[in-house]
Amino acid sequence: MTKIIIKRPDDWHVHLRDGVMMEAVLPYTARQFHRAIIMPNLVNPITTPRLADEYKKRILQSLEANTEYSKFMPLMTCYLTDETSGDIIAEGFKGEYFFAAKLYPANATTNSSMGVTDVKNLVPVFSVMEQLGMPLLIHGEVSDSSIDIFDREYVFIKEILMPLINEFPKLKIVMEHITTKEAVEFVRINRKQVSATITAHHLIINRTNIFDGGINPHKYCLPIPKREVHRLSLREAATSGDSCFFLGTDTAPHRIGDKESSCGCAGIFSAVNALELYAQVFEEENALNKFEKFASLNGPAFYGLKANEDKVNLSKKKWRVPDLIHISDGSSIIPFKAGETLDWKMGSSNG
Ligand code: DOR
Ligand code: ZN
Repeated sequence: MTKIIIKRPDDWHVHLRDGVMMEAVLPYTARQFHRAIIMPNLVNPITTPRLADEYKKRILQSLEANTEYSKFMPLMTCYLTDETSGDIIAEGFKGEYFFAAKLYPANATTNSSMGVTDVKNLVPVFSVMEQLGMPLLIHGEVSDSSIDIFDREYVFIKEILMPLINEFPKLKIVMEHITTKEAVEFVRINRKQVSATITAHHLIINRTNIFDGGINPHKYCLPIPKREVHRLSLREAATSGDSCFFLGTDTAPHRIGDKESSCGCAGIFSAVNALELYAQVFEEENALNKFEKFASLNGPAFYGLKANEDKVNLSKKKWRVPDLIHISDGSSIIPFKAGETLDWKMGSSNG
């Protein structure tokens, strides 16, 4: 096959940041995707309907100059804290300021220090969300430093997620960026209630690759990539076409200096080449016929939305991923697979 034409995909998990960083990265996401769920973990997190509304306006304003991106639709999320109230959630969801709410266990990842210290604190919030049909998006890792970093997703499933779905059987849940075969199994068993996003990078690298020839900060993200057996399980899940798995890049830009440091930040920037990376995986797994389901159909079906009408195409064409993406303040970001050659290239819209 030399050409793929699919309905335009959506990215169900994106970090756009703010200010000049957002200006640098947003066009890459808006070029590939129609809708995107915007993560709320800014330095000052998005915890209220007003903050979500203002952030959404900044996103749309940043794209205003380019008519090509005028259809891009950011779907905003609420960052849950121990203090979030059911009233704020209801107001934000009913007023269409919040599309979903994001649960970060406190200190699990980037900008999560204001996250939730104990899910018990959120019982009233989950009740409201369950009644409203508002999706709960979960960073599924415990943040207890005594738990091995490679076991944190599995322990979260066992200790937090299983009791949570029993207590709130109607709460719609997305386990974000899953990284283990246990998560794949958990989602399949509980598919009536739970779906999962899968990133391109977790389909491509395993934990050994983070240390290929030395420590590779640009391959470091959270949840941390796991053993090969888990990567293979994720590839099977994504390329199965199963409706409980869909695309979420978790593209998470950090400046070079913040990655290449004595305490480098977690996050992989894949907005530049996301669709091409996924296409390559689907081709390698002989599953290009399932690509549209994963990228463009399963997500909208889970969220009760229509699939997009317009199409995108990818052609078999070698191209080199840029070494750097520049930010207007003089700093830059290194994209995933920088300087490497990819086989597929996204073309213009509408087939
Ligand atoms: O690697 C990650 N980076 N994982 C996350 O959960 C957050 C993200 C970020 O915001 O940088
Ligand atoms: Zn994320």
